[in-house]
Amino acid sequence: MAKDFYGDLRLGILGGGQLGRMLIQEAINFNVNIHVLDPDPNAPCKKLCNQFEVGSLSDYDTVYNFGKDLDMITIEIEKVNVDALEALEEEGVIVYPQSRVIRLIQDKGLQKQFFKQNDIPTSAFQFVSNREGLSNCHIQLPFIQKMRKDGYDGKGVKKISTAADFEYGFDEPSIVEELVNFEKEIAVIVARNDRGEMSTFPMVEMEFNPQANLVEFLIAPSNYSFDIQSKAESIAKKIANDLQIVGLLAVEMFLTADGDILVNELAPRPHNSGHQTIEGNYTSQFGQHLRAIFNLPLGNTESRSNAIMINLLGEDGYEGLARYEGLEEALAMDGVYVHLYGKKYTKPFRKMGHVTIVNPDRSLAIENARKIQSLIKVIA
Ligand SMILES: Nc1ncnc2c1ncn2[C@@H]1O[C@H](COP(=O)(O)OP(=O)(O)OP(=O)(O)O)[C@@H](O)[C@H]1O
Ligand SMILES: [Mg+2]
Repeated sequence: MAKDFYGDLRLGILGGGQLGRMLIQEAINFNVNIHVLDPDPNAPCKKLCNQFEVGSLSDYDTVYNFGKDLDMITIEIEKVNVDALEALEEEGVIVYPQSRVIRLIQDKGLQKQFFKQNDIPTSAFQFVSNREGLSNCHIQLPFIQKMRKDGYDGKGVKKISTAADFEYGFDEPSIVEELVNFEKEIAVIVARNDRGEMSTFPMVEMEFNPQANLVEFLIAPSNYSFDIQSKAESIAKKIANDLQIVGLLAVEMFLTADGDILVNELAPRPHNSGHQTIEGNYTSQFGQHLRAIFNLPLGNTESRSNAIMINLLGEDGYEGLARYEGLEEALAMDGVYVHLYGKKYTKPFRKMGHVTIVNPDRSLAIENARKIQSLIKVIA
């Protein structure tokens, strides 16, 4: 990298949400100048960066103009204008993850094809161009229909149980995939720097909120056997290497009852399944992402303790100026770390913050996490 860490390196982040906010908290320690682009004038990053710009992440000119005077650009969301990033790369701006990686991951269909071409285990699938295509699929019912683009937090994913559900399917280019009868959803975050060095964080187990389809509860390190964990970690490393990505790659996977692992999807950035690394591991996912994109040695990813992460979601039935109930009681407990994301307004299931519970005793950590889950409520 041309510039060193004397405070003159200009790093741009596309997206100003909570992932960007936690990335900034780490980036400050590297003396970088942080520029953020987000369409929301009150985005969580607004008050934490050197320069905040309000604008569309999907508009070519906005992204190009935001980036043209920066040294390096990274993302906290993959729904960004990739053509602009490609033009910036051609002009010498470093873009990590690379625009070609973001382009591939933006489209879940291209991701699935990439898995197939590279012998990465994943559920059987086929493409349909609209709702009508659902009726002549060769994938057996019940199946999952996924929009190829623009899905997030479970929006864009539908279970189609019978032919009568076809009319509720997405009327958009989608993937139809086999419904995986998984025992657990697991994730591995891997980092790769420009020298090709790679490092994985220990595998984590996720519990989803069935109503919101969001990660609600996450346990690290996992209790699964060494074999399963190393299998998941090698799959993550293989994908990072096949992609030649620079930066973090989160690999979401399904673990079946027979110990098989199928890759669900990728995220080329810090991820909800790595928030517990801030307190739970020697290096956090945010610190690791910066090490990777700055081409520095990767940090030690080992766990320091059992860590459980709970997402603080806006309570169902409340919308408006956010209020946080139960924070004081939660903070009175041992090893409790609260992260609020600076979002002024709550709405049902909006990610408003997270809490990490750290405890050397795993069952105590789980017990405390359950307590906190019923204690803290985000209401209006
Ligand atoms: N083939 C499948 N079989 C069974 N369940 C699935 C399948 N694909 C997705 N799911 C369920 O739907 C959830 C959301 O799917 P996916 O991760 O693809 O969507 P997403 O909108 O990108 O989610 P997020 O942004 O939360 O990661 C998965 O975590 C899993 O619980
Ligand atoms: Mg997902």
